[in-house]
Amino acid sequence: MSGLIREDDLEQIKDRVNIIDIISEQVMLKKAGRAYKGLCPFHQEKTPSFSVDTSKQLWHCFGCGEGGDVISFVMKVDGLDFTEAVESLARRVGYAVHYTKTKSNNLGIKQKIYEINAAAAGYFSKVLFSPMGRETRDYLKSRGFGREIAETMWLGFAPDTWDGLKNYLLKKNFLEAEILKAGLTSQGSNGKSFDRFRGRLIFPIKDIQGRVVAFGARSLNGDNPKYLNSPETPVYRKGSVLYGLNLAKTAISSQSAAIIVEGYTDLLALKMSGIDNAVATCGTAFTLDHFKFISRFTDDIIFVFDGDAAGIAAAERGLELVSQIRLPGDNTLKKLLNSYKIGVKVLVLPEELDPAEYVAKNGVENFRLLITNAKQFTDFYLERIMIKYDINDDNQRQKAIAESLAFIKLLASAVAQEKYLKRIAEMADVSLETLQIDFKHVVSDKRHTVKAKPNQPLSKIFRNATSVAEREMLKLILQIPGKGAFLKELEPTDWQNQDNKQLFAVLKSKLVGKGKLNVQNIVHELDGNQKNLVVSLIMEPILVEDKERYFLSIFFKIKELSLERQIKVLIKELSVADMKKQKVLEKKILELQSKRREMRDQVV
Ligand code: GTP
Ligand code: MN
Repeated sequence: MSGLIREDDLEQIKDRVNIIDIISEQVMLKKAGRAYKGLCPFHQEKTPSFSVDTSKQLWHCFGCGEGGDVISFVMKVDGLDFTEAVESLARRVGYAVHYTKTKSNNLGIKQKIYEINAAAAGYFSKVLFSPMGRETRDYLKSRGFGREIAETMWLGFAPDTWDGLKNYLLKKNFLEAEILKAGLTSQGSNGKSFDRFRGRLIFPIKDIQGRVVAFGARSLNGDNPKYLNSPETPVYRKGSVLYGLNLAKTAISSQSAAIIVEGYTDLLALKMSGIDNAVATCGTAFTLDHFKFISRFTDDIIFVFDGDAAGIAAAERGLELVSQIRLPGDNTLKKLLNSYKIGVKVLVLPEELDPAEYVAKNGVENFRLLITNAKQFTDFYLERIMIKYDINDDNQRQKAIAESLAFIKLLASAVAQEKYLKRIAEMADVSLETLQIDFKHVVSDKRHTVKAKPNQPLSKIFRNATSVAEREMLKLILQIPGKGAFLKELEPTDWQNQDNKQLFAVLKSKLVGKGKLNVQNIVHELDGNQKNLVVSLIMEPILVEDKERYFLSIFFKIKELSLERQIKVLIKELSVADMKKQKVLEKKILELQSKRREMRDQVV
């Protein structure tokens, strides 16, 4: 990743940026000893466990375990990728970023793909309005989509040929390999490429800046799949684009609300009815990326889900969709619920209708009315839990209550909790008093919270001598200059804890050819948990006077423990070995035991 922006630029930028200034834009920091403390912006908390160390230019939250350097802070807070975050920081300090060749190549191919996509969209549109597109135009017309909306949305038609688009693009001097990279062609087993989209209605998907990044293609003859999409490409990541956002963003901002629908055609229909603050997820789950994009323009989001024959399946799907906002390892649902700034509402359409059909059947005014009366997300979620269970069955009712209470527990406000406890009591037909007792149990049940926290502070997990020693070793290697060289003296078998072992392997590999470990530079090359581990290790104080001596004693302790484990394994083998093997094993064990004593004597 970091090869894209020149290494010395990274250093320059980091030198010029003060981590306190950047973080202070988001967090109220107070000086506490050598560090600055504040409330963590990445999880809900009442007492500050978010800490910034100016001398190390690192931040770490002892509550949720997140941490990193100034770049990873900007990445996380602003939802940027590494390069974007560095560029953003560079702008703030007025520094011009240079790129290594990889980046310009990458820029090159991205630029090329945008060009190819734009040309392809032009081709599809030309075909749609040519005699070849006649049937498709009729189809669109039958659904109420005329020329104007087709032009606004750059709709098109991919003819049912194997190389219509490919030949068109080749004539425009794009290369076969580039067209393939753009995802517009597929490659057959004979190596030849052919048009991916054939005989389909085309919806170009644009990013927020209006560049065509991908295509959605609907079959018109009942072929499966109904919708075929572009694969992921250097300019398109699934779940990162909202269809129509480039056109809707101004309206979303001025009306201070965004309507999220599922389908391309839903968006078209709403747009034609004068609703211009809608975007479509196009069948994928609503992601954190989506959320970040939208929240640049408004904090009020209304999800609209298709109605369904049974009236439940569709809602369940909706629930699943919304609840997927909670990405693994991320407590976004909780954040969502507790940010008074963010209002999420949910509307499940009646009958078997999707937004396009509803508007066609009942008119846009009725649709607006439904939108105005959409349910608060919390109410919706609770009702869905209740619907899943049969309240008349005691067993099931118990489950419904347990699930509801676990959900209510996520709410930070006691007032809101009280309000929803009343609702649950009503819905589940139990007394509020009983429910409050149950809720107290749920709230004080520590097992839940431990399970829910993926990034638990590691210090709480580790207890035995091995983990303490391993952790201290890594900490010292990371903190004391020059100690990186000791990595060469350690083997993978010297580590028992898997996380530690992995980190050790990474650190050792960084040492190869350099002989010196540059901690500042490796932090952002690590991902997720590993980064958090490294940062917390770097931030943790070393609580001894004589660091040299401490280092050596930890080093030998690790060796001793490692030998102890090896001996244990051999002793086990001994019990099942034949005579000949026993001799060998015994000799080996004696050897290791003597080595171990040596190591133990070194530990002070
Ligand atoms: P029409 O039926 O033409 O009105 O389209 P629709 O957009 O209403 O389709 P539907 O309600 O069936 O699905 C909603 C959205 O889910 C679509 O707009 C697509 O984005 C997506 N989707 C539906 N079927 C498929 C599929 O087979 N593959 C993929 N990738 N997406 C699909
Ligand atoms: Mn639909």
